[in-house]
Amino acid sequence: MNEINVLNHPLVDCHLSVLRSKQTCNAEFRQSIKRLSMLLAYSATAQLEIETYTVETPLAACAGHRLKKRVGLAPILRAGVAMVEPMLELIPTSEVWHLGMYRDEHTAQPVHYYSKLPDGAPVDIAFILDPMLATGGSAAMAIKALVQWGVRHIKMLAIIAAPEGIEHLRKNFPDVEIHACVVDERLNEDHFIVPGLGDAGDRIFNTLG
Ligand code: PRP
Repeated sequence: MNEINVLNHPLVDCHLSVLRSKQTCNAEFRQSIKRLSMLLAYSATAQLEIETYTVETPLAACAGHRLKKRVGLAPILRAGVAMVEPMLELIPTSEVWHLGMYRDEHTAQPVHYYSKLPDGAPVDIAFILDPMLATGGSAAMAIKALVQWGVRHIKMLAIIAAPEGIEHLRKNFPDVEIHACVVDERLNEDHFIVPGLGDAGDRIFNTLG
């Protein structure tokens, strides 16, 4: 069964409030996404395997550590792109594999429009990045693409998750770990997360019109 990891931290609560507010401008919204992504990344990477090697300090030799596995970041376009930079700050050697999905606005079904995963050996662990896990349709499609590539260890990182999306992944992909800053109340009749933060992609890229 999926492990659900929800951040419980005063800084998360403060940054989330900025993100939720309709008065927050696009620049500030992006900053809050970055800060929350960094906190989420810190928690979601806690189990990454490391190996030791020898480091020479100016004074002596000592044990150093480096990541053992090949790490991939899979941001879901568009909004997931805003979570890439903070992840790369922490894991600069990550590979970034973009996955393009959008939700059909009438049916709320995901449409897969871009993916260029290679034929070669898959990454050892992939972090799917998307600020919002609503119905879970887009995340499920991203998971399927990564599984088809051969990725065996997948973690879903969302800033805000709805119970419906968590349940969807739980049922269909019990091995995928879910990390979220917060789990909101529910989806409304238009499949938007309530109270949520509106449309993350539009607020990040200033395309609300
Ligand atoms: C939003 C969001 C997720 C998806 C979540 O993207 O960023 O990708 O919806 O919904 P789901 O869990 O019900 O699939 P959107 O379709 O608005 O695309 P955009 O990021 O290009 O605006």
